[in-house]
Amino acid sequence: MRDPFTRRRTRRKSDSNPYVERSFQHPGRIFVFEDAVADIAAVRNLLVGQDIYCDLGSGSGAHLLGLGQQNPDASAFGFEIRYKRSVRTVEKAVRDGIDNVFVLRVDAGAIDQVFPARSIKGVFVNFPDPWAKQKKTKKRMMQAEFLDVLGNMLVPGGFVALKTDHKQYYDWFLSQAESCKTLSVTQAVEDLYSSALLGGNIATEFERLFVSKNMPIYYAKLMALER
Ligand SMILES: C[S@@+](CC[C@H](N)C(=O)[O-])C[C@H]1O[C@@H](n2cnc3c(N)ncnc32)[C@H](O)[C@@H]1O
Repeated sequence: MRDPFTRRRTRRKSDSNPYVERSFQHPGRIFVFEDAVADIAAVRNLLVGQDIYCDLGSGSGAHLLGLGQQNPDASAFGFEIRYKRSVRTVEKAVRDGIDNVFVLRVDAGAIDQVFPARSIKGVFVNFPDPWAKQKKTKKRMMQAEFLDVLGNMLVPGGFVALKTDHKQYYDWFLSQAESCKTLSVTQAVEDLYSSALLGGNIATEFERLFVSKNMPIYYAKLMALER
């Protein structure tokens, strides 16, 4: 519920997560989507001519912040459902003076409601939850239908890039991409760190952990098809 005057969320007794309250300390940087219409309008006001990158499931923000720093003239938007990770990301951005990074605390599936079609230069999906059990694969984020949605969100020459430690997820992702009408696979490697594609890579929190255990990082890039 929102306070009608401040529009801030009023605290409920059941709220035990301190990051919910902290998320409201960064208006214009974290969009919590309790008022989706207002947040979509506010995000769209930020889109003034610059390149847009999205990081779906941005976690605690290492990749998103690196993306903002690597592309100072672009805007980088993280989609992250967890309050704690969203708040941590934006607190680090504020601390380090990275002004072009924003977090949408909302399901990544809302991307086509937030951004106009053909507006995004790059979508990054880093170490998505693998939902490894056979019965749970329907919960995976990168279903073929969603890839088609993402393809429609991209500017000409735009891309979707995936990194994962999970071989089955990687194989499954490539099979989803095969039936996709808006994107095509242009790069796919089973060990990013011993490939020529590592240049410019921004490591995520999960990635640092897997690399420290000498695990291979699977990487694939899909480019928007001409329409
Ligand atoms: C395994 S973690 C990876 C985090 C980060 N990308 C990294 O590589 O360090 C997956 C993240 O995706 C978030 N997530 C899962 N499903 C999501 C969804 N549908 N929309 C937005 N975020 C999601 C989780 O809360 C979690 O932070």
